[in-house]
Amino acid sequence: MNSVTSADIQAVKQRLGIVGTSPSLQEAIGRALRVAPIDLSVLIIGESGTGKEFFPKIIHGAGARKHARYIAVNCGAIPEGTIDSELFGHEKGSFTGAIGSRKGYFEEADGGTIFLDEVAELPLTTQARLLRVLETGEFIKVGSSQVQKTNIRVVAATNVDMAQAVAEGRFREDLYYRLSTVQINVPPLRDRGDDVELLTRFFANAFSERYQTPELRLDADARLLMRTYRWPGNVRQLKNIVEQLSLFEGGETVSRATLESYLPMTVYAPAVMSASAAGGGNSDYGKERDILFNMIFSLRSEVDRLRSELDARDSGGSIAPRRDAAPSAGALISLKSERFENPEFSEFSDLTDSPVGEVQQPMKTLEESEKEMIREALERNGGRRKQTAAELNISERTLYRKIKDYDLE
Ligand SMILES: Nc1ncnc2c1ncn2[C@@H]1O[C@H](COP(=O)(O)OP(=O)(O)OP(=O)(O)O)[C@@H](O)[C@H]1O
Ligand SMILES: [Mg+2]
Repeated sequence: MNSVTSADIQAVKQRLGIVGTSPSLQEAIGRALRVAPIDLSVLIIGESGTGKEFFPKIIHGAGARKHARYIAVNCGAIPEGTIDSELFGHEKGSFTGAIGSRKGYFEEADGGTIFLDEVAELPLTTQARLLRVLETGEFIKVGSSQVQKTNIRVVAATNVDMAQAVAEGRFREDLYYRLSTVQINVPPLRDRGDDVELLTRFFANAFSERYQTPELRLDADARLLMRTYRWPGNVRQLKNIVEQLSLFEGGETVSRATLESYLPMTVYAPAVMSASAAGGGNSDYGKERDILFNMIFSLRSEVDRLRSELDARDSGGSIAPRRDAAPSAGALISLKSERFENPEFSEFSDLTDSPVGEVQQPMKTLEESEKEMIREALERNGGRRKQTAAELNISERTLYRKIKDYDLE
């Protein structure tokens, strides 16, 4: 492989706005630059929010195809029913609604690079088509019998344990080997040392400019917490937290306690992570279970919050307003227990037809709770599905399906 200097790495970071100097990040960027001129498939692996999306751009921009097209496809966001046609095109009349024929991305990007993001989400039938095009450059449009040729470099990315996906039969082994001739591991934020501080300053600067707020300051303890926090959502989560802090705490020196109130599920997040990593985090069953886990953990943090509010009331302390954006499937529960405990809510008791002294709320079904949780997460994320899916720890496709099922459009 060709040699890459630290000046080359610096230049690409500058061009794409990549912040960080940790050896593991430098190594990943260096590897992308070294493999760029060689026309091989590359698989980018890394946890959610680590910055995988920079890498196909590095590879495309430093290779011989840089003047040809670059197309990024999020495999997790395209419904199963249309993904073959999106990627490989279709002939007129090949399915209901196929009024005209259409070129797919593999034809559009001929000569260039295609980035298959969330590649583990590809249905098995599409995986077969992809393997063929990688091996022979050949593909067939949906509804056609004519073989076509294309010349494409594929860069794929995933945050899923591919070996496990293969073991569970969700991903073809031959395709996995074919895609991962070269692998690049993007390190999790918690392993990047001082990068946490560099990124915090970078985002604090950007957000104070955007929102015209004084630049964020953290005291030594808060900085230590930033450094030792697990960051399950990696750089995306850090960016999000710094945005909230810049909005609400700009001008103050943020203490550890304040920072903690912005880091929801600090204690529970690793349990969620390992529970989903332990088995089939990507199967439908796994996804349902992830939602359930998240729901249980948000309920738990809601209960903890209530308990401390009640303690504060007992000791005559004031109740801190809720600032965090923890999922609030438990909001109803909190109202319910306040009705139990708080005379202020006694006027609600006549809304139910239960015997005096016993306020009964209809239990929400699991589906109703899930629907509510998804609706609230969508609201919190301004309707942005990618972020909502990331927050709920489900794939975008699952989110789309649930939005449809629950009529949340
Ligand atoms: N080193 C970095 N410097 C600056 N911004 C970064 C860095 N790494 C990530 N980001 C930002 O963090 C966010 C998440 O990055 P990205 O979308 O590439 O994550 P990802 O690895 O593709 O995650 P997922 O698997 O969930 O899709 C983006 O807004 C990106 O710009
Ligand atoms: Mg991504």
